Amino acid sequence: MAHAMFRPRRLREKPLLRALIRETALAVDDLIYPLFAVHGRGVREPITSMPGQFRLSIDELVKEVKDAAGMGIPAVLLFGVPAEKDPRGSEAYAEDGIVQQAIRAVKDVVPDLLVVSDVCLCEYTSHGHCGIVEGGSVRNDPTLELLARVAVSQAEAGADMVAPSDMMDGRVAAIREALDEATFTDTPIMAYSAKYASSFYEPFREAADSAPQFGDRRQYQMDPANALEAMREIALDLDEGADIVMVKPALPYLDIISRAKAEFGVPLAAYSVSGEYSMIRAAGRLGWLDEERAMMEALVGIRRAGADVVITYFAREAARLLERGRSR
Ligand code: PBG
Repeated sequence: MAHAMFRPRRLREKPLLRALIRETALAVDDLIYPLFAVHGRGVREPITSMPGQFRLSIDELVKEVKDAAGMGIPAVLLFGVPAEKDPRGSEAYAEDGIVQQAIRAVKDVVPDLLVVSDVCLCEYTSHGHCGIVEGGSVRNDPTLELLARVAVSQAEAGADMVAPSDMMDGRVAAIREALDEATFTDTPIMAYSAKYASSFYEPFREAADSAPQFGDRRQYQMDPANALEAMREIALDLDEGADIVMVKPALPYLDIISRAKAEFGVPLAAYSVSGEYSMIRAAGRLGWLDEERAMMEALVGIRRAGADVVITYFAREAARLLERGRSR
């Protein structure tokens, strides 16, 4: 008798069979929802380049977060838009800075939700760079002290985890040491380890008003062509004490995610950045693709590549769809 033919279509015929053998699960517990806090009251200002996303004053932010928590979203990632910018980004580490206020308000109202805070200076500096600028370039080592202050001030405000996104060398170690000294030994660090100098951050820079006023970020963020270097960055951050490492952006860097998971086997996050969100939203609006399906496919693809945690502006939409899927 002829050798029985394997017919992959057998397992694709019925939806329940497909679900039975599905390899990758996307769950609401894997999602982190990024949000932008601004000063004021009753502010819900649409971000033009990110339809469906807003800059929120703290009263509005708290409502948004309550809703998100109600949908089962476990964590938010907070960014702040300060009242005033200066060369040293002072509001980033002010006790009553916008993010510190937002962290306190969120922890007050929804104490069980995880609050992750972005550690960087670019939203707060007048020049829009992620560190101290001297002689036209970003100085690494003098920036470390400020980043450490940002992280400690956020932990003091109640952040459950801090996430440095600046890409200065040695910042994870500097932040770990400062947190430990301030008795926050149990506050984890999620390091933006392989963060590329990407055009996909453009909409975010409108949202956070953080575009560099001169030059670009290629002197500190990674060259999109490099993969080995990403592994080295991750190894370095782990060595310095990172608890979760991150690859960012996600979709153009799935190979980096996959490789990082295989090589290190540590908790891995992927940030599906503003441009990834806006592309799907824009094509959906134009009727060029089915937005919901494209979103879910992108998210499951990021998980399949190896990310444990997915940071996405689609968190609410995805949570809604996942919930509907469960009750079906
Ligand atoms: C701050 C920061 C950026 C993003 C997260 N943290 C912008 C940048 O590096 O220019 C981008 C997030 C996104 O595009 O969604 N350094």
